[in-house]
Amino acid sequence: MPTDDSTFSPINDLEKIIFDEATIQTRLKELGAEINAAYTGRELAVIAIINGAVIFVADMIRELNLALQLDCIRVSSYRNSTAPVQEPEIIDRIRLDIEGMDVLLIDDILDTGNTLSNVSKVLRSMKPASLKTCVLLDKKACRSVEFEADFVGFEIPDEFVVGYGLDFAERYRQLPCIGVLKAEHQSS
Ligand code: IMP
Ligand code: MG
Repeated sequence: MPTDDSTFSPINDLEKIIFDEATIQTRLKELGAEINAAYTGRELAVIAIINGAVIFVADMIRELNLALQLDCIRVSSYRNSTAPVQEPEIIDRIRLDIEGMDVLLIDDILDTGNTLSNVSKVLRSMKPASLKTCVLLDKKACRSVEFEADFVGFEIPDEFVVGYGLDFAERYRQLPCIGVLKAEHQSS
């Protein structure tokens, strides 16, 4: 917790940095090229799962040379802790009519798979022409439901990470890098 606003720097709460800003931005350009190639000549409906995907999607869509429409879906799967609750809750639905559209669903991280598999089901019921998923981070070892993303930035081990949109108790989203918190900052 900051004690003095003028000196607070969230990066000091990290034990280690896993991906620095330059590494993330380089990988985003590669991912953008992959997505551009997959959807050449088509119009995309990009659906971001907020809050976590907000930084990632903002940078990602600026790499896309495609006509696209953007909407957000709000899902809550963690509540002020590093432990997931079982059923992700859809708190706010999309407003975009995605029937017949090519949809790219974007989240910050794929962990147990519950969030993306549930949100995918909801979006599929809205009859898109196609539905693919894109995540910045993939904790492959943590899956409890069968789910793979179509576009993945980086695979990471089973560690709780923050930064670049990912939070701990809603904090640290503004970090330009991704890292692991020092133990003393991992309790709310
Ligand atoms: P899943 O439903 O278990 O796949 O979890 C996905 C959601 O959990 C993501 O949208 C994140 O909000 C959150 N999450 C999972 N792992 C982490 C982490 O290491 N740091 C921060 N948030 C995480
Ligand atoms: Mg999230």
